[in-house]
Amino acid sequence: MTATDRFPGENHLVSPTLFTPYTLARTELGSRLVMAPMTRNRAGADGVPTDSMVTYYAQRAGAGLIVTEGTQPIAAGQGYPNTPGIHTAEQATAWRRVTDAVHADGGRIFLQLMHAGRISHPSLQPGGGLPVAPSAVRPAGQVFTPEGLQDFVEPRALETGEVEQTVRDFAAAARLAVEEAGFDGVEVHGANGYLPHQFLAEGTNQRTDRYGGSAENRARFLIEATTAVAEAVGAERVGVRVSPANSFNDIVEHETEDVYAAVVAGLEPLGLAYLHVVEGPPSVTEKIRSNWSQTLIVNPAFSLETTTGNLEALLADGRADLVAVGRAFIANPDLVRRLERGAELNAADQSSFYGGTDAGYIDYPTLEQVA
Ligand SMILES: Cc1cc2nc3c(=O)[nH]c(=O)nc-3n(C[C@H](O)[C@H](O)[C@H](O)COP(=O)(O)O)c2cc1C
Repeated sequence: MTATDRFPGENHLVSPTLFTPYTLARTELGSRLVMAPMTRNRAGADGVPTDSMVTYYAQRAGAGLIVTEGTQPIAAGQGYPNTPGIHTAEQATAWRRVTDAVHADGGRIFLQLMHAGRISHPSLQPGGGLPVAPSAVRPAGQVFTPEGLQDFVEPRALETGEVEQTVRDFAAAARLAVEEAGFDGVEVHGANGYLPHQFLAEGTNQRTDRYGGSAENRARFLIEATTAVAEAVGAERVGVRVSPANSFNDIVEHETEDVYAAVVAGLEPLGLAYLHVVEGPPSVTEKIRSNWSQTLIVNPAFSLETTTGNLEALLADGRADLVAVGRAFIANPDLVRRLERGAELNAADQSSFYGGTDAGYIDYPTLEQVA
């Protein structure tokens, strides 16, 4: 039996196209193409979304679903300059302009909750304090700060009570995102070496309390945070992103199968909107697929040219229900339409990915503008 056989109904056609609508729990999507979350470092003072961000997301409302850039659920979760937050009323009010604009153009949008943990720097922290992490393990390398690249520092290990508080912080941020800012849902960022992934990986988690040790204990923070978020806004409005075996941000993770089995076992009963896998070893994705009965989004990260054929192949064999694409959405605000027509894609300019002006942000042309 394949994954597509398990769920009869419109969502599970034998050969869905990228352009077939999809019902994602409570959210109706016009296509199966998701805009992957991407940090663009263009928020204003105090992490408040700007007019340019309203334009940027509205331009991309043609995506089946937009997942926003990583957004800190509390000030201490900030990892890079000019990233937006979702922990103050001012931030929520400004985000509301983004969600209103996307909804007015028929789009759907989830906010990504990203706590960077140790991938930060005192210059980005409230009061210039140390970044927090599961354990005091310093990442190799350097970090972007307002003063340029600087060495990472040794983070401060969270006390057990602080871990429990961070779980509550995620829930409060989710409530603000859905109830005040108008998001269709939130995605808990458990991927790419940020705080929840730092708990999952043995290299960054040397704890001896209930959040460290066995694979089940290391998965506990992500599961508790997601459970709290689901209780706050409804499980059908919550997704989780993971990146098995991804060593980005100096992650050392050898027990991949055990850890992600524990994650899936903990998340499966919650009835979430989706699990979102940044694809690493295909065997791990397949294992997750076979144990995950709800919607699975796969991001074939950096491994596949963005063509309709390549993306539909992921849907056709049941490996994914939805596919997420990152960089092609930076350069092509009308990506869905371009793929549908087999049109050429604009190339993305890497030099303007992280911060800067509106150039390389909201000035990529649509097909109509080219014509
Ligand atoms: C500029 C940029 C910023 C990114 N920021 C985030 C982020 O905030 N959260 C996240 O989960 N992934 C982030 N990613 C990873 C993307 O979501 C995606 O996994 C990656 O770009 C690979 O997909 P692609 O080959 O389609 O671009 C970022 C990637 C890029 C290029």
